[in-house]
Amino acid sequence: MIPPKPALPSAHTPSFAAFEARYAASIADPAAFWAAEAKALDWFRPADAVMRFDPLTADIVWFAGAKLNACYNCVDRHAASTPDRTALIWAANAPGEYEHITFAELLAHVSRFANLLRELGVKKGDRVCLYLPMIPDLAYAMLACARVGAVHSVVFAGFSAEALRDRILDAGAAVIVTANEGLRGDKTIALKAIVDKAVAGLDVVEHVLVARRTEADVPMHPGRDEWLGPALARQRPYCPVEWMDAEDPLFILYTSGSTGKPKGVLHTTGGYLLYVASTFRYVFDAQPSDVHFCTADIGWVTGHSYILYGPLANAVPSVIFESTPVYPDPSRLWRVVDDVGATILYTAPTALRALMRFGDGPVSRTSRASLRILGSVGEPINPEVWRWFHDICGNGRCSVVDTWWQTETGGILISALPGVTPLEPGAATRPLYGIRPLLMDADGNEVHGNGVSGNLCLAGTWPGQARTIFGDHARFALTYFSAYTGYYFTGDGARRDENGNYWITGRVDDVLNVSGHRIGTAEIESALIEHPAVVEAAVVGYPHDLKGTGIRAYVVTRPDMTCQTVELQAQVRAAIGPFAMPDQVVIVPGLPKTRSGKIMRRILRKIAEGEKHAFGDLATLADPGVVAEILELCEGL
Ligand code: PRX
Repeated sequence: MIPPKPALPSAHTPSFAAFEARYAASIADPAAFWAAEAKALDWFRPADAVMRFDPLTADIVWFAGAKLNACYNCVDRHAASTPDRTALIWAANAPGEYEHITFAELLAHVSRFANLLRELGVKKGDRVCLYLPMIPDLAYAMLACARVGAVHSVVFAGFSAEALRDRILDAGAAVIVTANEGLRGDKTIALKAIVDKAVAGLDVVEHVLVARRTEADVPMHPGRDEWLGPALARQRPYCPVEWMDAEDPLFILYTSGSTGKPKGVLHTTGGYLLYVASTFRYVFDAQPSDVHFCTADIGWVTGHSYILYGPLANAVPSVIFESTPVYPDPSRLWRVVDDVGATILYTAPTALRALMRFGDGPVSRTSRASLRILGSVGEPINPEVWRWFHDICGNGRCSVVDTWWQTETGGILISALPGVTPLEPGAATRPLYGIRPLLMDADGNEVHGNGVSGNLCLAGTWPGQARTIFGDHARFALTYFSAYTGYYFTGDGARRDENGNYWITGRVDDVLNVSGHRIGTAEIESALIEHPAVVEAAVVGYPHDLKGTGIRAYVVTRPDMTCQTVELQAQVRAAIGPFAMPDQVVIVPGLPKTRSGKIMRRILRKIAEGEKHAFGDLATLADPGVVAEILELCEGL
């Protein structure tokens, strides 16, 4: 156990005892706790009630009747009190290129964008799809949607045309915002060309706005496409805000589950904003002098909550990083830290693993003296990486917070508090205020006490919890509230150690966590079987040094057709995106199945993990011989 670093005199949580007392109070009376927290936001109208929760119908309501605007809380109020304070720092792809945007400037940019949305006919409740690289326009667009009450659906710019099309259709987005091209490291991504392919023949799409990130000209579809720059230049820099109900949707974010179709996780305005503002303040102990650097892409929930909404609601300057940690060399991340004076660095184990390969040199060449808190998110961080992060990157001076949460939870649920919680390398440690985790055994009974493991569920509700799956509330209730009656099921397994610390052990469902990206095995399988030569496919994860989890696909092809594994990889790339491409494709004569036809994934997973013998009882298999054949084909992978 590593004792906490000394807390700052101005710390929001002065000691572990203070944390424990406050936690106990938040659990005893969550309504009182959250009503008090809500005072940190500006509300146009107060709530009639704090919360309502019925797990049977998945009915979750926070601050019913209250009115507020998320953009107003993140921008206007700070533009009024501290107009010259930096709100965003854009670290462009080219090293050394930065743009500082003050709150006053942010307000003008966002207002112009909001007026443009209104000019295009976007109204409260309409969905706007954002398919953009990490440029300030992405932040302006999100906040502009929030300002006029439109619902943003940000699609990570690494998704393919096909995946983008599905998301545009599901959300029914009439307006798409993109860029001519994206720059990331030494790669140029033809974003507009991908959008053109995605929206071809889609009647729903009326407008495509195109930011000019590079000099490249791209074909513009007359009447539909417009360059963002001139369209914004004709707008007034003032735009009144739309007062939203606390439960009006703020955004949709698609994520993967156990089935083939991605889910549009929907977050609402009041509860979400309060939760990310509050957790940002406690987990990163936000101080007026902070500069927050989160390396995630805004296309994932980490970027929504802890690049944009959480820091801005707290008036903490936040970095938008366009590049990668290794471009042009593996010192890049630390150089950005030094250049912007970052006090908080929030990153993913996969990035740390990639950097660790280069040794300590690229880190040691930089100062990092400004850092005080190091955060990790997205996947379990193994103790070795944790120690490197703490000892080398943080010079042993910084608090490390391993933060566990999900797209559906809106914000961090389990994490240490810096300067407060005793640390265990690899453990997410303690639930935050108002959060009640519990562990369930295979029979659906709660496992009590310490030193136990089980499936991780949550009791009750918290303000940042997702409210529904866009267009499919029945699926929301079924996915999250049916496995364990009365509780939200996370899909993760966890251990509670002797000291009451939580250790997340990873997904227990058919979801993979590849380089911190969440991908459903079913999604990859449906992409593979679209190939004419493929009869059947089963996808499993296996331990991978860099990615955490690698993707292996077992594929059965038609006897009369041949196909190369690269073709199958390309198929997945086209259907989902490069990040979902299987690392290994094994063409097999058949899959291990029970007599009733169920694929025994357990066996395939074990083979992928390198197991050669211990497969348990194979007698239930329709053709036990297939296991030996698969093992032989996997030899040497
Ligand atoms: O398995 C857990 C893992 O990431 C999943 C959520 O993925 P996503 O919705 O894409 O959100 C990622 C960013 C919040 C979880 O179900 N996960 C997230 N954080 C951690 C983690 N696993 C272990 N430790 C973490 N700190």
